[in-house]
Amino acid sequence: MMEETTKDLEGVVFSHEEVADGFRFLQIRIDGHLPCARPGQFVQIRPSRTTTTPFLRMPLSVSHVDRVGSTFGVLYDVVGPKTRALSDMNEGDRIDCLGPLGNPFPDVPDDARPVLVGGGIGVPPLLHLGTHLRSTGMDPILIVGARTAGKHLPLELLSPASEHVRLATDDGSLGHHGFVTDLLAQALKEEDKPVVYTCGPHPMMAAVASATESADVRCYSSLEEYMACGFGVCVGCVVERRTQANSPYDQFTRVCVDGPVYDATEIVW
Ligand SMILES: Cc1cc2nc3c(=O)[nH]c(=O)nc-3n(C[C@H](O)[C@H](O)[C@H](O)COP(=O)(O)OP(=O)(O)OC[C@H]3O[C@@H](n4cnc5c(N)ncnc54)[C@H](O)[C@@H]3O)c2cc1C
Ligand code: FES
Repeated sequence: MMEETTKDLEGVVFSHEEVADGFRFLQIRIDGHLPCARPGQFVQIRPSRTTTTPFLRMPLSVSHVDRVGSTFGVLYDVVGPKTRALSDMNEGDRIDCLGPLGNPFPDVPDDARPVLVGGGIGVPPLLHLGTHLRSTGMDPILIVGARTAGKHLPLELLSPASEHVRLATDDGSLGHHGFVTDLLAQALKEEDKPVVYTCGPHPMMAAVASATESADVRCYSSLEEYMACGFGVCVGCVVERRTQANSPYDQFTRVCVDGPVYDATEIVW
């Protein structure tokens, strides 16, 4: 049976491997029921219950769900103490997770063509989204950017999310030499009714938000802000909304509980 509520879960490392430069793919098997994480939702993970270092859990987007095997996957870049501690975990190690958290990407209108635009650590939630959309008969375009070829996830991980994967690198070592926004501009010209879903570094998402707003195209952005608690208590993850509100409580939004997915026109970039 699937459950949708957020749960404090204990699981076991099912598989764990490096899939690109510094990028690791971790699959976790959950003891008992696997909560049904929808595309765009995330989990808070701590490498072990038996140590307080690192003290805080880290938010990671769910990139894969295998309900039959009761496993879910995350893809992460090793950037600091928490991700380094996670990278030391081996198959069979016990792992502490809280989730699923946050709100999923909204549904795609029937007559629209989903265009997914990801960069760096923002690609994982789009893989879950693309795979889900394909299972409903949709045909998403997936545009992925990275600094250099070695930072791109392998096609085996990208292709389940789209039959139309378009790659860009900042240094021209793979795919289009330039930014994802160049490939997005091309896709927006080709499609009659595109709807854009994006996740990645802040400047990339700001550029995507600006391009889609100019083209009058709906865009949903998943924000990956710094987080502490992940469930609305610490107010450590707020971003400013564009609308002028009477109170700071309405002017700012907590990404962990109100997001992480927003209509791009709602946010002050
Ligand atoms: C909702 C959500 C989903 C996320 N999903 C993923 C994911 O699928 N894969 C993944 O690799 N990471 C993801 N992240 C980011 C991930 O949580 C951080 O990279 C991680 O917590 C870093 O911890 P650390 O102790 O290893 O590094 P830290 O010491 O905390 O940071 C190391 C470096 O990374 C930068 N950094 C840390 N956190 C962030 C952030 N949130 N945004 C931008 N830069 C940051 C810091 O500026 C610093 O330069 C997500 C974040 C959020 C909020
Ligand atoms: S991370 Fe604590 S309120 Fe969002």
